[in-house]
Amino acid sequence: MDIAVRYCSKTKFGNTRRIAEAIADGIGVKAVSIADEPNLKEKADILFLGGAPYANIMAPELREYADNLDPAMASKVVLFTTSNWSKRTVLALKKMLKAKGISVCEEYFYAHMLNIDGKIEAAKEFGKKMAGTI
Ligand SMILES: Cc1cc2nc3c(=O)[nH]c(=O)nc-3n(C[C@H](O)[C@H](O)[C@H](O)COP(=O)(O)O)c2cc1C
Repeated sequence: MDIAVRYCSKTKFGNTRRIAEAIADGIGVKAVSIADEPNLKEKADILFLGGAPYANIMAPELREYADNLDPAMASKVVLFTTSNWSKRTVLALKKMLKAKGISVCEEYFYAHMLNIDGKIEAAKEFGKKMAGTI
């Protein structure tokens, strides 16, 4: 099975990157920034995709990534997000991806921006658990 972990992370703290890396660590794959790889190069059975809200909206580059995602390249998407309070990034991504006919897991991972350290283990376990669903 092929599992990809992709993320968009913009602050110097790298909150979403750290959660992406923990999820990837739990699975035994590498987390890759969408800034480094703007399109999936290999088909994934599960694509873990995460980002955060900035001034109430997800980063434009994450929106573009989701817009450009070829439904043939990802059988299933599992979302994750970090933020101060909002879960809107996962909700907006879910809506966009489902509209493209991509299957999106109802379950997603959330970490508050001030509790990234406290969520690293849980993120690893989440990755392991969701990867086990295929
Ligand atoms: C300019 C800016 C705007 C933000 N706006 C929001 C917001 O509207 N809602 C929210 O819940 N969090 C907001 N946040 C918090 C970020 O979503 C949070 O710090 C997130 O973990 C950043 O992820 P990153 O470190 O991977 O970029 C904002 C942060 C910044 C720097």
